[in-house]
Amino acid sequence: MVEALASTALRCVECATLYPAVEFGQGSAQPLPRYRCACGGVLDVETQFTLPQAFQQEPSESQDALQALEVSGDLPPMAGAAWRQLFEERAEQPPIWAVGSDSMLLDSSGVWRYRELILSAPEHYIISRPEGNTGMYPVGRENCGPGRIGHRQLGLYAGLDRFFLKHEGENPSGSFKDRGMTVGVTMARMLGARAVACASTGNTSASLASYAAQAGMRAIVFLPAGNVAGGKLAQSLAYGATTVQIEGDFDDAMHLVEQVCNELGIYLLNSLNPFRVEGQKAIGFELLQQLDWQAPDWLVLPAGNLGNTSAIGKAFRQAYQLSLISHLPRIASIQAAGANPFYRSFLHGFASRETVHAQTLATAIKIGNPVSYTRARRVIEESDGIVEEVTDEEILAAKVMIDRAGIGCEPASAATLAGVRKLVARGVIKPDERVVGILTGNLLKDSKTGMPQEGSSIVVEPTVDAVRKVLHV
Ligand code: F0G
Repeated sequence: MVEALASTALRCVECATLYPAVEFGQGSAQPLPRYRCACGGVLDVETQFTLPQAFQQEPSESQDALQALEVSGDLPPMAGAAWRQLFEERAEQPPIWAVGSDSMLLDSSGVWRYRELILSAPEHYIISRPEGNTGMYPVGRENCGPGRIGHRQLGLYAGLDRFFLKHEGENPSGSFKDRGMTVGVTMARMLGARAVACASTGNTSASLASYAAQAGMRAIVFLPAGNVAGGKLAQSLAYGATTVQIEGDFDDAMHLVEQVCNELGIYLLNSLNPFRVEGQKAIGFELLQQLDWQAPDWLVLPAGNLGNTSAIGKAFRQAYQLSLISHLPRIASIQAAGANPFYRSFLHGFASRETVHAQTLATAIKIGNPVSYTRARRVIEESDGIVEEVTDEEILAAKVMIDRAGIGCEPASAATLAGVRKLVARGVIKPDERVVGILTGNLLKDSKTGMPQEGSSIVVEPTVDAVRKVLHV
């Protein structure tokens, strides 16, 4: 395990101190996880990328290229072609599980397909459902075929010609969190952890509970009481996680879980854990591959704890450095107006870090003190990105559009469409720019907020006459 992580290190995003990926206590053979720098800053994984031998043009080349990357931040375009070929070949592999074999076909996971860019883990440690391979829907006025007028409504609503929605709610546990969790739980196994924990607004906990159950690990989740959508709470309980609801909000739960993990020796799997962020990068790699490595002009996503903004931004940065793409997409992070600390900081050029007491009906992003603030700030600055806010009314209106198009999503995800519409109306995003929006969670996660309630469906006698009457035909 130590050998596998030899070329991986953790760097503080505040003061740049470098730590080894694995540390041991004095005289102990048990690895000690590190989530923060001594200065309190969060950490970022740094690793060396090496193409598999068969894809290297000449044995020495990748080493030279890596050095060039360190020096100039650029790789020769040739290296990009080799990486693209590697990922294309893997994506073509049909997922087959031979009878009697428990070997995972990692190439069929939308995370482990990119493993050289994610985590160097011996195969037998890997816990995967497998995740990823989520749909990418062309919904723009021009890129949506005439037969799909329902989807095209979204392009009309946004005011965009070439618009894609990538639905991360199509992951195994119904949200994008599975991409980071497969890596987080794999790391927990590599470190020999017996229990894993997180604080959550509901999706991280559902994902953690699912992956921990697969690995046979104890899962403990801390949720803000009364502020988690029913579907998510049900998942945690059903997958067997010890589910602790705390009297407080997500920010309180986050503060508590960090203390609990440090004091009780439980492995922490919030996005404070830098390896989770590495897995979430796969959203970025997969969407680029789905676009045949033609980077979009904009990537738009909802923002709460800012792990996803950090991860997708990092994926684009690395894809650019590896010459997989020729330009960096601009990133737009969308916050709910009542839970907008990142937006407030952005408004004054990130001169200071703001916090708020969060209030929004999009409970997934009801977060007032985001953990990944510094990581995400770098992403917005280097991509010439933007942070926008949308009201709960705008979120609900956008959710109705996505639901009625037959795609569906949970409320927080609809912040993406609400944000795109607002940015197009403001002239920030141009109508002819290529835009990818991320939908982060499945419609079924929250069966209440912004949904038609059961009473609005029609009950009739089982006769054609009765049906004729209600249909007015
Ligand atoms: N959308 C959904 C559906 C989410 O569940 C979350 C975060 C976000 C967007 C925001 O992503 O935090 O990376 O900026 N949910 C976390 C959780 C906080 O506990 O499930 P972020």
